[in-house]
Amino acid sequence: MLTKTNIAGINFDSYVMNASGINDSTLEELEVIASSSSSAIVMKSCTLEPRQGNSGPRYVRLENGSIQCMGLPNLGYKKYIEFAKKLKEKYQKPVIASVAGLTKKDYPELVNAFQDTEVDMIEINVSCPNLADKKVFAYQSWEVVEILQMTKDLRKKPLGLKLPPYIHGEQQGWITRILEYGISFVTCINSLPNTLVIDNEKETPILRPKKGLGALCGSYIKPIALANVYNFFKDLEGGISIIGVGGIETGKDAFEFLLCGADAVQVGTCFEKQGPDCFRRINKELEEILERKGYNSIEQAKGKLKFL
Ligand code: DHB
Repeated sequence: MLTKTNIAGINFDSYVMNASGINDSTLEELEVIASSSSSAIVMKSCTLEPRQGNSGPRYVRLENGSIQCMGLPNLGYKKYIEFAKKLKEKYQKPVIASVAGLTKKDYPELVNAFQDTEVDMIEINVSCPNLADKKVFAYQSWEVVEILQMTKDLRKKPLGLKLPPYIHGEQQGWITRILEYGISFVTCINSLPNTLVIDNEKETPILRPKKGLGALCGSYIKPIALANVYNFFKDLEGGISIIGVGGIETGKDAFEFLLCGADAVQVGTCFEKQGPDCFRRINKELEEILERKGYNSIEQAKGKLKFL
């Protein structure tokens, strides 16, 4: 396939996979992703213990995206270790675990738990936006450094960071330090925290948790995602793989992420709205663009953004 790619040394049959957090919490949901054209199976961010998450409404579709404040509902990491084994036995595609600590010291425990499992890669989610009274770790660079120090000897699987949207270049600048810790990939961006959508009739926020403050997803955040991917691509000088997320609905969107330097993209909101056929469609649209432009591989177009 024209869009086959490689992330952290692992081969992927296409450029498009699911994003963590959308319909990927149960084995049934993960099998839907496994049976689709998604080039990997990315599992819901998991915690040490199972969680119910926040009370609803906690996810609402918007015209150009969605807003959510789920609160990390998941079955606990032990289930995802079990699911990965079953999925690897049945489906021939990479399985990616995503781990989320409620405290910093949860991270080494979670990363350690996945070391001798069937997962192909581990994503450390340091950007969960929806826990009441908890900070987004990745907005404090030292918090991430501490987490990386605690996990530095746990490298049986490629380890990556799921990062939040950075708005200022300076905020993002520190991240090149992650290379020192042997991180193999970054996934960016997570949804945009602290956003508010209001129901005019009811005169209330549309979400219940956290006084209506949720995290924005979909097309609204694509320009931020593109800039974040591009800045990492420049700053990390190809040293690690980059997975782009945020508002990918078409092959054209995926191509823009490719020009910015993404090695692959993940699809969340569009998957929730359109169902699992979106992975095949987006990848096919991307292939058509590459063919029309005369690119023979992902590598040929990667990071080739031109300037006026
Ligand atoms: C949740 C949302 C996120 O954006 C994330 O990265 C992890 C968890 C959630 O609220 O469940």
